[in-house]
Amino acid sequence: MKKIGVLTSGGDAPGMNAAIRAVVRKAIYHNIEVYGISRGYQGLIEGDIRKMEIGSVGDIIHRGGTMLRSARCLEFKTEEGQLKGIEQLKKHGIEGLVVIGGDGSYQGAQALTKRGYPCVGVPGTIDNDIPGTDFTIGFDTALNTVIDAIDKIRDTATSHERTYVVEVMGRNAGDIALWAGLAGGAETILCPEHQHDIDELTAKLKRGQERGKKHSIIIVAEGVGSAVDIAREIEQTTGFDTRLTVLGHVQRGGSPTANDRVLASRLGALAVELLMDGQGGRAVGIVANQLVNYDINETLVKNHTIDQKMYKLSEELSI
Ligand code: F6P
Repeated sequence: MKKIGVLTSGGDAPGMNAAIRAVVRKAIYHNIEVYGISRGYQGLIEGDIRKMEIGSVGDIIHRGGTMLRSARCLEFKTEEGQLKGIEQLKKHGIEGLVVIGGDGSYQGAQALTKRGYPCVGVPGTIDNDIPGTDFTIGFDTALNTVIDAIDKIRDTATSHERTYVVEVMGRNAGDIALWAGLAGGAETILCPEHQHDIDELTAKLKRGQERGKKHSIIIVAEGVGSAVDIAREIEQTTGFDTRLTVLGHVQRGGSPTANDRVLASRLGALAVELLMDGQGGRAVGIVANQLVNYDINETLVKNHTIDQKMYKLSEELSI
């Protein structure tokens, strides 16, 4: 392979820049030309493509967001959209593609691979919801952003003896909620992967108060449902002064942690190695700190699950 492309697609994630840098530098090191495709599959369809040089990715390793921009492109789900994209790849002589993104981005990568354009998926999403890898790029940074917020909320919750409901992102996955809840010492963690019982939750809060607990923090993954309703129900049932904080998109920004930068560098470089080896339709990941690659289809047919032992531990430690 002499020319490859790289794009970021779906929700941006801190560390995507470090992954782009790794792809570009690794490819150039091996005398392969690299083309950066702006705004994900949308930019591919529109031919928003430019050649990348070593210097194109200078001074970005520490920056959040993605220098290539990102988009969610509905048109690329259609045959027509995919054919337009292929036309652009042909026009630029691009023979393979590194796709950095989440499961929606992987679907596009798989479609292109089926049409004869080898693609390798690099897991870039704060949600940590891609089967086959322990961690996705951006998760660690988002988690630390959430922890920073929880620590601050804890200060004011203590001062005012309040109950706080904190809603975190994750789409349908509870990883951010679980890890942040465990690291932040939350009283309760509500994840979409677990049924929750509001009566049990309020009873637990009341038990805590009887023991002398003056404040509580409840982490709610957005996939669980309305955190507004949960906060209202808690206040009505317990009579505790309750507040809601929805952290929202702050979780997607910020300078990537060292872990995310290293993960992104390793995975981006591995994706190029696979393309150099002529392998498409693969996804890269990390399992037990070892790099892995596997059929991208696996990520699309398997369901993501949270670590059940960790969930149990969070319950045991928050009695
Ligand atoms: O997939 C990343 C993510 O931030 C999810 O956690 C969230 O549900 C979604 O993207 C938000 O998407 P948008 O930025 O398009 O509102």
